[in-house]
Amino acid sequence: MDTNLKIKNEIVALLKKHGVKISADDLREPPEAEMGDICLPCFNFAKTQKKAPDQIAKDLAGTIKPNDLIINITNIGPYLNFWLDFSKVAELTLREIKKERGDYGLNQNGKGKKVMIEYSQPNTHKEFHIGHVRNVALGSALVNLYRACGYKVIAANYLGDIGAHVAKVLWYMLNYSNETDAKGDKGEYLGQIYTQAVEELNGDSKLQEQVLDILQRLEAGKDKDLMYLWKQTRKWSLDAFNKIYDELGIKFSVDFFESVEEKEGRKLLPTLLKKDFIKESEGAIIADLEKYKLGVLVLLRGDGTSLYGLKDIPLAMKKFNKYKVDKSIYLVDNRQSQYLKQIFKILELLGFKKEMIHVPYEFVELKSGIISSRTGNVVTYEEVRDAAMTRVTNETKTRHTDWKEEKINDVSMKIVLAALKFGMIKQASDKIITFDVEESLRLEGFTGPYLEYTNARLNSILNKAEEEGNKTAGKQDYKTLGTNIEKRLIKDLLNYPEVVLAAQQKNDPALLAQFLHSLCQNFNTFYHELPVLKAEEKIKLARLNLIKAVRQVLENGLVILNMPILKEM
Ligand code: ARG
Repeated sequence: MDTNLKIKNEIVALLKKHGVKISADDLREPPEAEMGDICLPCFNFAKTQKKAPDQIAKDLAGTIKPNDLIINITNIGPYLNFWLDFSKVAELTLREIKKERGDYGLNQNGKGKKVMIEYSQPNTHKEFHIGHVRNVALGSALVNLYRACGYKVIAANYLGDIGAHVAKVLWYMLNYSNETDAKGDKGEYLGQIYTQAVEELNGDSKLQEQVLDILQRLEAGKDKDLMYLWKQTRKWSLDAFNKIYDELGIKFSVDFFESVEEKEGRKLLPTLLKKDFIKESEGAIIADLEKYKLGVLVLLRGDGTSLYGLKDIPLAMKKFNKYKVDKSIYLVDNRQSQYLKQIFKILELLGFKKEMIHVPYEFVELKSGIISSRTGNVVTYEEVRDAAMTRVTNETKTRHTDWKEEKINDVSMKIVLAALKFGMIKQASDKIITFDVEESLRLEGFTGPYLEYTNARLNSILNKAEEEGNKTAGKQDYKTLGTNIEKRLIKDLLNYPEVVLAAQQKNDPALLAQFLHSLCQNFNTFYHELPVLKAEEKIKLARLNLIKAVRQVLENGLVILNMPILKEM
């Protein structure tokens, strides 16, 4: 059991002796240090005790006897405030971190449960743009958070490898270019073709008919030449995506494809049509969800080609039936909220009542406006990475004239990745991100590089301590960690496991990002205000151990956020 819970449970037990039943979750951290270390709002007992909350708090403060961990109990209005012996808290916390190391902060809440987290889901034949980076940064963090909480996680990708967008690209290639045009980066080439195709097609119904013909042939799958071109170009995209995933350190346990689910969807049609909410309408097949105020979802067009939703129905079922998951998470941008509500409703009406959750996030905007590969106003992942790399490599070179090129590149790339990932995770997912590359690279502020810089600093202090022959083991006097900023740091370390749990439960990795940032700020304040290596022996030993614990927790958090861990930069 983690230390924080142990401490809270002691308070729970203490209150129980006085006839007050609470759970550890009722206890809070007061907004200000002057208000104690833990507090209990007493509003909820007013009814059962038939007393005003202020009075309850006052009476309890007057009767409960302190013990050697909880050394003082007071009340401020309706709040009961507990003061802890901080040397004990420090001892318990630092000992636990030392023992648990990389496991500190993990829990077994999800033990025995299996979840599928579907994320990334790019469309082939289009570019992987900066908005996709937000999805993968959040998705990989979410996977790690669930794993940290004991869940078995299947990380799934769902690639949009068939549909109108693919038909457009193939149409353009067949009519205006040929595959030998594809020099250099083939994934990028396809993205450009897509933009050109959309431009060319704009408003021209004759040409659009040609595209429809291609889509129909593609779905029928019988035109050998066309299928060859589709497979070849599809592979270009998949290779390009895999390169990006490798670079970002992203791994999927399973890949689903729209082209596969499209066939499954068609097989399912006879069964679907038996339900009265699924019907033919002007040649199309629709799911009529008006009754549930969810409008209408077209599954098959009048021309026989299929739509997005037809594929999601069998896929949702497969996730539970074949992979035996208990819960299925869809990390998809919030413009698809209504659509996913429709899909979940259809499944429910089909008798498929399972835990399916849409975790939405807002899009990423650049100063030039919303990203859209349709208008060509696309900033690809590679473009952002390259721009950032140029800048960071120069800065790293200036800082370390003695470093070899390989090391400069390696460290710079890690800084860039930290900037991108953190920049995408730190913001609550319901906020639009206006991504600013320069801003994300700053060594100070709410940025990934600031966290990495702090980690490098922690390492350099500990290395220096070792070089100077300081011992970091030995009997410690935890009482020396008595200043407010040290207490703040210890509280942060103590709170870390709760933050991990909350971030998982709320499907919100930003909570962990924000926590790590404030841990770094608190550490830097501590280091600025208090001497470490120049402190007297006893204090030095305690502070070095505190620093070690901070490093451990920062590292553990960075691992969950799938961020690099830089020991020097
Ligand atoms: N490929 C789709 C897109 O780019 C996202 C897929 C989301 N997942 C799903 N099961 N529908 O819009």
